[in-house]
Amino acid sequence: MPIALTRAVSPAIIHCELTHLQREPIDYERAVQQHAAYENALRKIGYTVKHISETPELPDSVFVEDTAVVFPELAIITRPGAESRRPETETMAAALRQYRELHFIEAPSTLDGGDVLVLGKEVYIGLSQRTNKEAIRQFADIVKPYGYRVTGVPVIKCLHLKTAVGFVEEGLLLINPDWISPDTFPGYLCEAVHPEEPFGTNLMRRNHWALCTAAHPHTADWLATKGYDVITIDQSELAKAEAGLTCCSVFVG
Ligand code: GLY
Repeated sequence: MPIALTRAVSPAIIHCELTHLQREPIDYERAVQQHAAYENALRKIGYTVKHISETPELPDSVFVEDTAVVFPELAIITRPGAESRRPETETMAAALRQYRELHFIEAPSTLDGGDVLVLGKEVYIGLSQRTNKEAIRQFADIVKPYGYRVTGVPVIKCLHLKTAVGFVEEGLLLINPDWISPDTFPGYLCEAVHPEEPFGTNLMRRNHWALCTAAHPHTADWLATKGYDVITIDQSELAKAEAGLTCCSVFVG
């Protein structure tokens, strides 16, 4: 069974990094309950959930996606763009070492996993406030021997590339056209997310399942019309920390 690596919500989440959002109070207990419901949804769609070491002193550490990118052949441990987040990678590397050969983004380059969208052998990486050109070059050099092609994509109006685009199925993406151009992804039909749900793009898919957040009912309806069994997850608290569904797990297939 594939594994989903997750991490407990830090009690310091109220001190999280914020880039495009204003700070709002976060209910920690509620965030913990919502994260547990998210983990249960991952179990329901077929993952074995494994918790990596807790890091209560690191506010954003529940957002494990930013610390690693896993391929069938290897894993890349990132160097997050926000300095406060860099210590998160140590425990992710310790967790992934048993599953994959590890490669590392080296200083002074920075890259967040939320900027990396893997579509088969095509890898799109957001050139964002968190991820820079040199890191994209390093990433490309690491994966090139395995046949992956890397394309850097400017991301200006939202935090990460995967804030702006979500994979639905082969040939189909859900995008926010205010944040990313459909021309970015040749060969893919890019459906525009409902205008009332700019963050609805950050969905998850596995087999006949689709996960989206309770804040995005139009997106949930659209996924249902595509034939998926939709699970909606209330992620209201972690959303205030500028996070989406994909941020909270790293998959090891
Ligand atoms: N709060 C999530 C991040 O800024 O990385």
